[in-house]
Amino acid sequence: MQFLRNVIKWNLILGAFTFIVSYKPVIIMHGILSGADSMNSLQREIESQLVQFGKRLEAGKRIKRLFPNDWKIAPGSNTSLGRSGHSQGGLLARATIQTMPNHNVKVFISLSSPQAGQYGTNFLHLIFPDLASRTVYELFYSKVGQLTSVANYWNDPRKQDLYRRYSVFLPYINNEIQTSNSSIFRTALTRLDKMVLIGGPDDGVITPWQSSHFGFFNGSLDVIPFNEREIFTSDAIGLKTLADHGKLVIVAKPFVHHLSWHRNRNVIREVILPHLI
Ligand SMILES: *[C@@H]1O[C@H](CO)[C@@H](O)[C@H](O)[C@H]1NC(C)=O
Ligand SMILES: *[C@@H]1O[C@H](CO)[C@@H](O)[C@H](O)[C@H]1NC(C)=O
Ligand SMILES: *[C@@H]1O[C@H](CO)[C@@H](O)[C@H](O)[C@H]1NC(C)=O
Repeated sequence: MQFLRNVIKWNLILGAFTFIVSYKPVIIMHGILSGADSMNSLQREIESQLVQFGKRLEAGKRIKRLFPNDWKIAPGSNTSLGRSGHSQGGLLARATIQTMPNHNVKVFISLSSPQAGQYGTNFLHLIFPDLASRTVYELFYSKVGQLTSVANYWNDPRKQDLYRRYSVFLPYINNEIQTSNSSIFRTALTRLDKMVLIGGPDDGVITPWQSSHFGFFNGSLDVIPFNEREIFTSDAIGLKTLADHGKLVIVAKPFVHHLSWHRNRNVIREVILPHLI
């Protein structure tokens, strides 16, 4: 798999580099609305500011299944990693970290990613112009519907029973459904030195925008902040543990549209680079 070879090749090069100058390699994961090329400016900015290499990964559109073997990022080595993901890429990157109990990722940056799911017309219409949020559950919460990545993190607050029954992705990585992997998903996240969740009210695509911080709608479509939701209060995936140790950083930045987070130099310098140093 080309994707895997790139990761390994790159990691070996960076392993040596890290040893000498103590910068960490950075893996960047793009979102669903664009390809790896959309991350060029973010990569350039990181390289020019931190004198280190960045790597953009090309993702398949479907994130239905994540096999840790596809992502063996030298788990036995002592190379530490920073990882940053935009939009769907941030969800994919987070899930990947969760499947690696012995990972050596130090910093995970989620750049306007629907960590608690997505439920909104703005986003839906960018990908499926003819579908309506209110009724799309009929399609998404089915075996066939789950073959699209969006359906994997579609979280209809009024159809939670169907969400849990059909979604093959989000309720698992958020430990809303317990399996034999749930404890690994939790401990893997608590290995991080820092988790940075970036989002903002003018994003325009992530709905509710607080999903970028693990906040989400309740059954009457009121947005419940992340620290009042069960995923946090019950420490289901280790967010509370991270917060208690000062390792959870919540960034709410206004006036940034979804497609600007990774392109706007000021945003990159202000909210991303400081966490990679
Ligand atoms: C990682 O570091 C530890 C302690 O410094 C060492 O014992 C171990 O052999 C190293 N592992 C690798 C794969 O280099
Ligand atoms: C646990 O994770 C492994 C590896 O990703 C997977 O093969 C297995 O099906 C998972 N088990 C459950 C119960 O989800
Ligand atoms: C949702 O949250 C609001 C505000 O906390 C509350 O008034 C409402 O009863 C909640 N709705 C449900 C269905 O839990």
